[in-house]
Amino acid sequence: MSLPTSLQDAINAQIRNELQAHYNYLGMSVHFGNTAYNGFSKWFRLQAAEEYAHAMKLLDYLNARDATITLQPLEAPPANFGEFPIEVFQASLTQEQGVTRQINDLYALAQQERDFTTLHFLSWFLQEQVEEEATVSEMIDRLKLVGKDPAGLLQVDAEAGSRAAALTLPSTTPGTDAT
Ligand SMILES: [Fe+2]
Ligand SMILES: [Fe+2]
Repeated sequence: MSLPTSLQDAINAQIRNELQAHYNYLGMSVHFGNTAYNGFSKWFRLQAAEEYAHAMKLLDYLNARDATITLQPLEAPPANFGEFPIEVFQASLTQEQGVTRQINDLYALAQQERDFTTLHFLSWFLQEQVEEEATVSEMIDRLKLVGKDPAGLLQVDAEAGSRAAALTLPSTTPGTDAT
């Protein structure tokens, strides 16, 4: 059964949204790369790779459903952040909450179109958003605890860096599973 045009368009738009999220996280990684917070820089590089993998997962799905893929332009990522790391993580949480709304809208559309295969496919993304929001919220909680204390900030940074190093980057090689 072919994919309804409305869903095809909406999934194409979501590929762009995930790539925009990728680009925004890359911007945050670059921002921290220019500071003493190398751990946060690594952490955001990993987040960026995850968003890229989400985009590829959607792209592979459109391919599998024999739908048309139309790549869309991205915006430049925000480059000016506040003095404290917590502001970047708050911007990141706002972004994740936005993506959660986008996935919910996509899910509602698939429901409206009675496309059960897409509903099943999207349930992975719903679950992933719960995880993504929780991960960023946890970082914000830790940063709130240390406040402006430089030693505390560097400790959270070091932990974020080692967490990023311990995780394997999602595979984005063609022909392999991009989860
Ligand atoms: Fe994502
Ligand atoms: Fe995300």
